[in-house]
Amino acid sequence: MQAFLKGTGTSTKPQKDKATAGASGENKKQKPVPWVEKYRPKCVDEVAFQEEVVTVLKRSLEGADLPNLLFYGPPGTGKTSTILAASRELYGPELFRQRVLELNASDERGIQVVRNKIKTFAQLTVAGSRSDGKPCPPFKIIILDEADSMTNPAQAALRRTMEKESKTTRFCLICNYVSRIIEPLTSRCSKFRFKPLADEIQENRVLGICEKEDVKYTKEGITALVKVSEGDLRKAITYLQSAARLTGGKEITEQVITEIAGVVSNEMIDSLIEACYSSSFEKLEVVVSNMINEGFAATQIINQLHDTIIEKEDLNDKQKSAITEKLAEVDKCLMDGADEYLQMIGLCSVIMQQVTQNN
Ligand SMILES: Nc1ncnc2c1ncn2[C@@H]1O[C@H](COP(=O)(O)OP(=O)(O)OP(=O)(O)O)[C@@H](O)[C@H]1O
Ligand SMILES: [Mg+2]
Repeated sequence: MQAFLKGTGTSTKPQKDKATAGASGENKKQKPVPWVEKYRPKCVDEVAFQEEVVTVLKRSLEGADLPNLLFYGPPGTGKTSTILAASRELYGPELFRQRVLELNASDERGIQVVRNKIKTFAQLTVAGSRSDGKPCPPFKIIILDEADSMTNPAQAALRRTMEKESKTTRFCLICNYVSRIIEPLTSRCSKFRFKPLADEIQENRVLGICEKEDVKYTKEGITALVKVSEGDLRKAITYLQSAARLTGGKEITEQVITEIAGVVSNEMIDSLIEACYSSSFEKLEVVVSNMINEGFAATQIINQLHDTIIEKEDLNDKQKSAITEKLAEVDKCLMDGADEYLQMIGLCSVIMQQVTQNN
């Protein structure tokens, strides 16, 4: 027996080694990159749907001056990609490292860094041509990604630097919430709002990737994918990749997308609403605890509940407004880390109260 085991051991070993060597060799060739990175726009022209900013950046690529920029908008709409692509085109891969300073929320950006690192970099002067002879703009770019996470004193410290070094440096501030950037900074920048991507644009991009990656899909699957990603192309691409991995060569259907995105099925939402209408608290409690125990995120449930409530015809405006006010409150509490079950029960009780008051 032992001999047999040994025998098989030695005979399979070389094969195994070969197999692993082969696999790692392939990996090296293919370099498994997440699709979001693989399909990140390489040049400004590839950025979809953000026409205004693309026009301005293209002008400056042709030689016009570049203002200080402020990009804001929801996640996954191309803010970081756009400025990186533009800088690459402006400077070429070689100069890019010297001319562009990219700081994001993972870097320390307190007031000390603004005083030292950013100021020093901004003060460097630069030539107006590249080593390959092509002209390039006589300024550097400082990208402050996720600028809404910078402290107010750090933002304030930027004000004078921005003005003083305008001969040699352009700033590009990127954020999701423009209201968190102090007024004096926003007034020094050209503001560009990045819109959530339209459904057709997202669909085109996703279909393009499906073709390149040889992914099979159904039409409903793609429609569902675009719907759940709500204008966030990064989300759409990430879901697509997970779905492709999950199905492993089979078609991507609506069910697969619903499962991956953690969307609550319509039947479940209906049963929750029904429980609220039943005016039996016990029934409501069972439905809510079932939903939470099944692992659905409360934020997801309340988002879908919101859409359903808004469209309900048997509720009057007063009832709807009372419910949506509670929805907003629950959303905030959940963000602050409140208990999902209690918040859901609290919300559903208000719905129940509103519904039964009418009858
Ligand atoms: N307008 C767009 N055109 C083409 N691709 C896009 C666009 N918007 C997003 N993408 C895709 O989504 C990915 C993420 O985009 P990006 O990192 O630029 O988002 P962002 O706006 O900076 O988001 P965040 O606010 O979360 O930082 C990119 O790699 C790209 O594949
Ligand atoms: Mg970004």
